[in-house]
Amino acid sequence: MLSAVRRVASANPAAMMRPLTSMTMTSAFSTSSSAYAPHNVKNITVFGSGLMGAGIVQVAAQNAFNVTMVDLNSEALKKGQDIITSSLKRVAKKQFPEDAAQQKAFIDKTMAQIKTSTDSEAASKDADLIIEAIVENLKTKQQLFSMLDKVAPEHTLFCSNTSSLPIGEIAKATKRTDRFGGLHFFNPVPQMKLVEVIRTDETSQDSFDSLMDVCTRMKKTPVSCKDTPGFIVNRLLVPYMMESLRIVERGEATPQDVDVAMKLGAGFPMGPFELADFVGLDTMKFIVDGWRKEGKIDDNLVAPVKLLDDLVAQGNFGRKSGQGFYPYNGVGGKK
Ligand code: NAI
Repeated sequence: MLSAVRRVASANPAAMMRPLTSMTMTSAFSTSSSAYAPHNVKNITVFGSGLMGAGIVQVAAQNAFNVTMVDLNSEALKKGQDIITSSLKRVAKKQFPEDAAQQKAFIDKTMAQIKTSTDSEAASKDADLIIEAIVENLKTKQQLFSMLDKVAPEHTLFCSNTSSLPIGEIAKATKRTDRFGGLHFFNPVPQMKLVEVIRTDETSQDSFDSLMDVCTRMKKTPVSCKDTPGFIVNRLLVPYMMESLRIVERGEATPQDVDVAMKLGAGFPMGPFELADFVGLDTMKFIVDGWRKEGKIDDNLVAPVKLLDDLVAQGNFGRKSGQGFYPYNGVGGKK
């Protein structure tokens, strides 16, 4: 499934587009934020202990939130815990170089903030905020939230980390659309500073302020965005990558030359073809096809590109299949 535009976001070109500060965006969207006191979120429950869920859990725990990590079974939870432990070791070494005792204390303190559970209902009972980072499938997400809506406390805020699904559509499965928003973290969560905070037309000011507040307390930089396809980062990155494909399809330049041009001419750390291979060409096609179907984006930006469709039809998905625009040294290998 679409692990979505996620990796597009994780690639550094995104980081080069300097995010607007939370202050700027808050005031651009706020009506009168002073009339609302943000919830004092203390307890966070994260659904999904995969790549993103584990990262979110880690960052929340590092910043003194009480966190419960939920997944379908203990094997999945164990994987999530392993992701967190190895990431924390890296953070600890960086923060306390040469001081093994401090490193251990930091890891132990952070891990003590984290509980795990396979019981969704029990895990939601004390949650002030639920963050969903499960598979990128609208029905599955709706089913989860519909169930959670019945068991979570009235005040609990809900949000999804989806990369490509409309937040409003997911929220529709609940009766708390005013307490529902998006928190779009980037991969790898502990390193990437940005969080896109998505507000639907129904997200209340209070909920929005609370989500911004949580991001700041997690030491992230939040930016606000309406519930539009791709939010900010992927909305800009995906059409850029599609236009790069069109340049090649028209025979105007080779992928290699486009990549060199964007790295040396625009200062991007990766060229668009390297990025496309990294993201996965199937993922890119999935996103573009989805956006075209939704009809909310200018047709020209998401017009199909035969070059992409052919590569995907041949099973050449990029780095993950060992071949995309570039050959890789095996599946997931180096260029
Ligand atoms: P993943 O496949 O690594 O992890 C998903 C986890 O959710 C799995 O451990 C799975 O067992 C669990 N899960 C599935 N159904 C569940 C349920 N009902 N209750 C509890 N756990 C359940 O996926 P990943 O990459 O972490 O992505 C998760 C979400 O984050 C997706 O919506 C994705 O679009 C989004 N996202 C991903 C990014 C990335 O770079 N991977 C970046 C930004 C957003």
